[in-house]
Amino acid sequence: MSPVLQVSKVTKAFEKLVAVDSLSLEVNSGEVLGLLGVNGAGKTTVMNMILGLTIPNEGSITVFGKDLQKHRIDILKRTNFCTTYANLPSNLKVWQNLRVFAGLYGIRNPGEKINELLELLEIAHLRNSITGRLSAGEGTRVNLAKALLNDPELLLLDEPTASLDPDIADKVRKLVLRLKQESAPAILYTSHNMRDIEEVCDRILFLHQGKILASGTAEDIKNRFAGKDLDEVFIKVARNEIEALHL
Ligand SMILES: Nc1ncnc2c1ncn2[C@@H]1O[C@H](COP(=O)(O)OP(=O)(O)OP(=O)(O)O)[C@@H](O)[C@H]1O
Ligand SMILES: [Mg+2]
Repeated sequence: MSPVLQVSKVTKAFEKLVAVDSLSLEVNSGEVLGLLGVNGAGKTTVMNMILGLTIPNEGSITVFGKDLQKHRIDILKRTNFCTTYANLPSNLKVWQNLRVFAGLYGIRNPGEKINELLELLEIAHLRNSITGRLSAGEGTRVNLAKALLNDPELLLLDEPTASLDPDIADKVRKLVLRLKQESAPAILYTSHNMRDIEEVCDRILFLHQGKILASGTAEDIKNRFAGKDLDEVFIKVARNEIEALHL
C-alpha cells in the first residue's frame, strides 16, 4: 500500500534562512508520525507546505498518491488540521463556526456531526459561546472538533495539547489513539510534550535546523542518544551537544 503522505526532498528557505532542508518523510494510513524539534526546527513549516499554504522551493509532496500542487482542492477535502497558529473567526458562536466549516467540507447531516464532536471533545456546554472569548484550552478543543469534521484521511496536528490542562491533554491523546483504531487516518503530530510523543507516536522524526537528525521509535532515539528519556535527548539537542558528538 502506498503511503498517504509522501514528502520528497523538500526545501523551504525564507531569504537566507533554510527552514526545511531537503526533507523526506512518509506517513501511512493508521500511523502517527511525530515531528520533534526545538523552536524554529521547521515543524510548522513542514505542515504549512503539506497544506499548500507555503510553497516549497524544491522537492515534491504527494498525498493520496496525487501531486499536491496539481490536486490541492481534492486533497484538502480529505485532509484537516489543528493548529495553535490560526484562530477560528472570533465573533461567531462555537456552533456557527463549526457549521461554516461543515458547509465548506460539504458534510452531510452537519448538525448531527457537530453534536457528536462537541460531545466527543466535552465542549457541548460551549456550543453557544462566542469563539473569541473561549479560554486557550477551550479554543484548542473547538479547533480539534473542526479538524475532525470531515473524517480526514490525513490529519495534521500541530501542538494539539499545547494549552490543555493535564486531564484534557490526556483525553486528547486517548482520542488520537481511538481515531487510529477506528478510522486509521495518517497523522502528523508535533508537540513539545514528550509524554504526548511517547504515548501517541508510532515513529518520530527528530528535526534540527530543517533536517532529520534521527528517526525511529521513541525507544530507538533514546538508545541512540543515550538519554534516559526523550526530555533528556531533547535538551541535549537544544544545547547542541548532539551536533558536537554525532554530526
Ligand atoms: N513566513 C516566514 N517568514 C520568515 N521566516 C519564517 C517564516 N515561517 C517560518 N520562518 C522561520 O523558519 C524557521 C522554522 O519555523 P517553524 O515555525 O517551522 O518552526 P517550528 O519547528 O514549528 O518551531 P516551534 O516549535 O517554535 O513551533 C524559524 O526560524 C522561523 O523563524
Ligand atoms: Mg511550530
